Amino acid sequence: MCGIIGYTGKKEAGRIMLDALELLEYRGYDSAGIALSDENGGRTRVAKCAGRVKDLRSLCAEKDVSGHCGIGHTRWATHGGVCDSNAHPHQFGAVTVIHNGIIENYRELIEKYELDGKLLSQTDSEVAAAVLSRFYQGDPYAAIRKTVLKLRGTFAFAVLFEDIPGKIFAVRNVSPIVAASTEDGAILASDVAAIVPFTTQYFVVPELHVVCLSGDGIEMYDLSGDRAQIEWMTVDWDITRSDKGGYPFYMEKEIMEQPRVIEETVRPRVKDGRPDFSAEGIGDDVLVSCRRICVIACGTAMHAGLVGKSLIQAIIGIHVDVVMASEFMYNDPVVDENTLVIAISQSGETIDTLEALKFARKCGSPSISIVNVKGASIARASEHVIYTHAGPEIAVASTKAYTTQLAVLYLLAARMAIARNLWDEEQTERYMSELLRVPDVMEEVLARKEEIHHIADTILNARDVFMIGRGLDYSILLEGSLKLKEVSYIHSEAYASGELKHGTIALITSQTPVIAVVTQEKLKSKELSNIKEVQSRGAKVILLIKGKEVLEQEKIWSRIFRLPVMEDEFMVMPASIVLQLIAYFVSLDKGLDVDKPRNLAKVVTVE
Ligand code: F6R
Repeated sequence: MCGIIGYTGKKEAGRIMLDALELLEYRGYDSAGIALSDENGGRTRVAKCAGRVKDLRSLCAEKDVSGHCGIGHTRWATHGGVCDSNAHPHQFGAVTVIHNGIIENYRELIEKYELDGKLLSQTDSEVAAAVLSRFYQGDPYAAIRKTVLKLRGTFAFAVLFEDIPGKIFAVRNVSPIVAASTEDGAILASDVAAIVPFTTQYFVVPELHVVCLSGDGIEMYDLSGDRAQIEWMTVDWDITRSDKGGYPFYMEKEIMEQPRVIEETVRPRVKDGRPDFSAEGIGDDVLVSCRRICVIACGTAMHAGLVGKSLIQAIIGIHVDVVMASEFMYNDPVVDENTLVIAISQSGETIDTLEALKFARKCGSPSISIVNVKGASIARASEHVIYTHAGPEIAVASTKAYTTQLAVLYLLAARMAIARNLWDEEQTERYMSELLRVPDVMEEVLARKEEIHHIADTILNARDVFMIGRGLDYSILLEGSLKLKEVSYIHSEAYASGELKHGTIALITSQTPVIAVVTQEKLKSKELSNIKEVQSRGAKVILLIKGKEVLEQEKIWSRIFRLPVMEDEFMVMPASIVLQLIAYFVSLDKGLDVDKPRNLAKVVTVE
């Protein structure tokens, strides 16, 4: 978490950094700050404050933030509360530092280097600045090398040395840094979103390499001091896709983009009517040889994995585990060369997923990652990568990344079925034509946005909302419930409807709206019975149901939304959009900051 930016060149660095920090704010928005190198080797100037980048902008309007070289930071608080002094950058002696990550041994370092009473903040980051300052005797590379060897934990640092004006130094371990040359200088950032406005050519700074950015370009050295080669990459995101496109919030824009990004994720991977991963170098051998699959992911990405599990188990008949990446290591994971590990991550930087993937690879598991951000750590750590083509997802609540992850899982399940000779031509044709129809069906749902808005009105003042369904319906409700919680702050729980009577039904009253999803023919009668059970306890039920069938309880639904009809296994797609929009409208109508819910950050790079 935390957004990092650094720029050196001919332009005003202050303006560039403030704009970039706004793009990076989704990584954390507890505080923000910038530091500008003094061109004459004088004191580095710092402006920082608790609050958002807009607060920093106001502060900068009153200060001298001129200069052509600087570093900037937007924070998601870990060590030390949200206040001005804990905001980055941190200055110690001649060095000024911004940091993303966690220095686990910061207490030992305080003791070892007798820093007690000398620090101005409660952060682990200032401790690292102090250690670096102690080792700095005119050679920045030597000081960084020595410091890095003393640190335990994860870090991405960008550093200004007072007596080396115009240069930015950076180093990282696990936490990401990307860098690029601009037409008049160089730039670095915690992720590509901030450098896309300048260039499409960038590189990922390798772990434990020191980069130096100056007006003349970029140099990189490994920790032994040897010059290292830069491996350039191209970002294919369209910059115009990073703005709100006329919508009040990114979340709405990103929900509305889903038909297009699903199309862009699926179409290029369909050849002769069949899914094809040859461009990704994924041969059928990988898909045929595994006896088990283990999906590792967090949050929304894990919910996508649950849908993938249902699909693959139903179609292929092999066992699929979906493991919360944050719990993976603590449950003595059993993975081996016969287990295909699928890591799913929008950002490609979620540390728990990354660590779990690395562990599985050490156990000999073949691996495929499904990632949105090109060149991200998880993509690089896995044997194969399939990129979702969702484009930049800026809203903290994931929407289009989720459905593109689902799209990839639909493709993978089909490729597996074909590779294992489980399908004939007709089955393949039927499944693929349904998959290719998803964007149109999504458009149909999006066109009924206002109808969904009315549904959202019915839960606006609820304290608790329950969501019930079975099988695939339950999986998508887990995601729908997470969405509602994170953007509206309404407590909500997704419950497998058959489980309610084992305790939870005690919580259902006339004050507890229940959202029920019924899309699976084979589960319908059981699901409808479960709905009657909550209605009998006074609950007002909002029903999302496939098709137009007239129901016995027709008159007692609080609201009903008829989903467009697809084959059962594809109903996840239209139903998800309705649930995303319900969460969005509740948040919007409550007047909340939809894109930046409290306490959250888009990229979770701490364990
Ligand atoms: C919720 C959300 C999170 C992420 C989770 C994993 O809307 O976005 O639950 O899904 O933090 O992030 P990635 O996909 O970047 O690994």
